[in-house]
Amino acid sequence: MPLDLEKLIQEHQGQNHHLFESYVNPQLTRVLRTIGFNKIYVRAQGAYLYDQEGQKYLDGLGGYGAFNIGRNHPQLKKVLQQCLDMDLASMVQMDAPLLAGLLAKKLIQLTPAEIDTVFFTNSGTESVEGALKLARGATGREGILYLDHAFHGLTLGALSANGNREFRDSFGTLLTGRSVPQNDLKALESELRTKKYAAFIVEPIQGKGVHIPEDHYLPQVERLCRQYKTLFVVDEVQTGFGRTGKMFAFEHWGLQPDIICVAKSLSGGFIPVGAILYRREIYKKVFTNMEHCVVHSNTFGRNALAMAAGLATLQILEEEKLVERAQKSGEYLTEKLRPLMDRYEMFQQCRIKGLMIGLEFGPPRSMKLKMAWKMIHAANAGLFGQMIVVPLMTDYRILSQVAGHGVDIIKMLPPLTLTEEDMDYFVTSFDKVVSECHRFPGGAWDVGKQLAKQALKSQGPSAEPLSSEVTSYVS
Ligand SMILES: Cc1ncc(COP(=O)(O)O)c(C=O)c1O
Repeated sequence: MPLDLEKLIQEHQGQNHHLFESYVNPQLTRVLRTIGFNKIYVRAQGAYLYDQEGQKYLDGLGGYGAFNIGRNHPQLKKVLQQCLDMDLASMVQMDAPLLAGLLAKKLIQLTPAEIDTVFFTNSGTESVEGALKLARGATGREGILYLDHAFHGLTLGALSANGNREFRDSFGTLLTGRSVPQNDLKALESELRTKKYAAFIVEPIQGKGVHIPEDHYLPQVERLCRQYKTLFVVDEVQTGFGRTGKMFAFEHWGLQPDIICVAKSLSGGFIPVGAILYRREIYKKVFTNMEHCVVHSNTFGRNALAMAAGLATLQILEEEKLVERAQKSGEYLTEKLRPLMDRYEMFQQCRIKGLMIGLEFGPPRSMKLKMAWKMIHAANAGLFGQMIVVPLMTDYRILSQVAGHGVDIIKMLPPLTLTEEDMDYFVTSFDKVVSECHRFPGGAWDVGKQLAKQALKSQGPSAEPLSSEVTSYVS
């Protein structure tokens, strides 16, 4: 008897959080409870999630950027079903799989001419690991340069290029490397000049906080990397496949990277897949002869389902013109959100590129609010953001997140299929939530105090005022 999946799910529906808490990650379930994200979703379509009661949620997280084409896209489902029905000879290993060749060719067509070789991976962090390894192999240097606040994944190699103490602490010695501040070319050059660095790795738009570099920065970075023979690695894991209104974010500045890391939305959110897109001269320095033909390799990297998902996703992006749509949606949202900054003194920056959205708050000028702002930040540096995220969820069923540890930035990465109606709904809801935060005393500040209390209680008597666990953790 085959497993009856539908029956299994029906019989256990509702036990989601209990099972996850018992066997997977109890700290995460505590966070979900604390911020009111402990929902039970039973279905998803496009940019929406549905819970047990049939209530609809607007998915502003988009699986942290894995669902650019929207969830459960019918065309993608068809391709995957077709792939399964064909009983393909996947993962023979000593073989040259057709679908991998086809997807590699398609990806190469989307990138600058010098990028002509592909290595398939299973995740973003694996793409970064591979890129760092290739860079070390090709240059004979060990050092890795990266930006303050960078996020490239959480396995040990990628963690070595993580610019956030919260993620790096307590895991021992990592790869040799150093971080430099975004937009500081002097600091970068003084490091590059040492010629210790194999690679400078950068997210064209930084995920933590949604920081968009000054316009001249990345072209100058590229020039300096060339000058000091450090490979220029662009991490497009989050920004790739239309997210920022271009197929890849580096196109905003006409860059010519040596290595590009991708993952997340490449498979339309169904199958883990990623890729390293790089120059043949790097390949030749690493895969030097037949003996080294698999000097870097993996088992699942070129599997048929992942490759089929990648091919289908790229076709959907093209056919539905989702890249152009993301760009237009970003402009629309900016136009609607910017005026709110004049009305609300704490809403201070609106950083939007395509549908990569960062909304930053800052200290108020008026006396009453100043006091409230200080109080809430004294309780925890990341708490104010939750005063936006929590009511967006509880009152308006919109998923969003705080964009990093101890920051007052709300971040969203919704599917690129968002409609004008969705965006209007978000703007109206955000307006109401932000308006509420500008009333002190008022309900929003009570939510803040309540959150601080709950987190304190859940951690026992010796706890810090509020751990950053209720703020933001990934992406
Ligand atoms: C820019 C960037 N690089 C790498 C990663 C790691 O990807 P994954 O979670 O698939 O390992 C992420 C994940 O959020 C990311 O945003």
